[in-house]
Amino acid sequence: MNRRERPAWWPSKRAPVALLGLLLLGSCGRVEQPLNSFDSQGPIAERINDLFWPVFWIAVVIFVLVQGALLVAVFLFRERKGKQRPEPKQLKGNTRLELLWTVVPTLILAGIAVPTVTTLFELADCPRGAMEIEVIGHQWWFEYRYPDSGVVTANVMVIPEDTEVCAKMTSDDVLHNFWIPKLAGKRYLVPGQETEQRLYAEEPGEYWGHCAEFCGLSHARMRARVVSMTQGDFDAWVDNQLLPAATPDAGSVAEEGMEVFLAGACIGCHIIDGVNNPDPATLTVAAPDLTHFASRHVFAGATLPTGLNPTRTDWEESLRLWLNDPPEWKPGSFMQYLGLTADEIDALVAYLSTLE
Ligand code: CUA
Repeated sequence: MNRRERPAWWPSKRAPVALLGLLLLGSCGRVEQPLNSFDSQGPIAERINDLFWPVFWIAVVIFVLVQGALLVAVFLFRERKGKQRPEPKQLKGNTRLELLWTVVPTLILAGIAVPTVTTLFELADCPRGAMEIEVIGHQWWFEYRYPDSGVVTANVMVIPEDTEVCAKMTSDDVLHNFWIPKLAGKRYLVPGQETEQRLYAEEPGEYWGHCAEFCGLSHARMRARVVSMTQGDFDAWVDNQLLPAATPDAGSVAEEGMEVFLAGACIGCHIIDGVNNPDPATLTVAAPDLTHFASRHVFAGATLPTGLNPTRTDWEESLRLWLNDPPEWKPGSFMQYLGLTADEIDALVAYLSTLE
């Protein structure tokens, strides 16, 4: 091919350079990276990183050696007018060489396999005495149940810092995958089966995650969030979660909101402890328990409000948009368009804000 000729689909000579530059610049941003799996915040995620980096560097060395040898061969023995090098000596059946290229990769693979398999087994099962939390995957949100205390919540998993936590996971419908990159690896939630995931946060903090298995139309709207706190704060959180819902002041807008909740389709799926206490078996579909809805700061599969540090106003605005038409934000949502009026939505937002 003539040097100046380019295929018709090739945008420009500089396009690949520009693309590479963009990719490199993309890694320089000083943005928060809530899903950065290299920024481990606990011993379990750290074990995975400790495994990743040696394997990565071994792969880099092998890549450079193999590609280097390839480039040298291509360059030295390329076709040149008049200056063709003689064909190099051909080797056939060199026992020493064959032994070498069998033994060396075997040793490298064995060297990688031993720590890999050890780590896999160590992280596979929860140690005894770990704090259990049940994780149930739904299309498209995570439910958390605490068997020790009886707390039931959704979207935000609260754990005490410096504590070995054992997530006992299953799914209510299809395959999901629970992934909190800064705390642990990925693990499937399988309908009809129980899988375990170890979690351990060293410090109080917020850790974002995401469902890591395509699970239907709104898979992209299925986030997970873990909040770790001191033991004292955690105990206070448990005590608060066990209280029945706050009662709105008589004659307030929030009270109107409670009436909208009780009169509408909401009670077909949602429970607010002390307000409606249906037999869970009679609910149409499983939906988040709303008793302490406002204490979670996020909703709709932990995707609203958007952004990492939303304000209370952002929360209320997002809630208005959500109540107006849930499937618009979360396509396929089991929470349907309910045809609520603006006044009903305002009342519901006022009421839900009291459910701390
Ligand atoms: Cu659940 Cu993807």
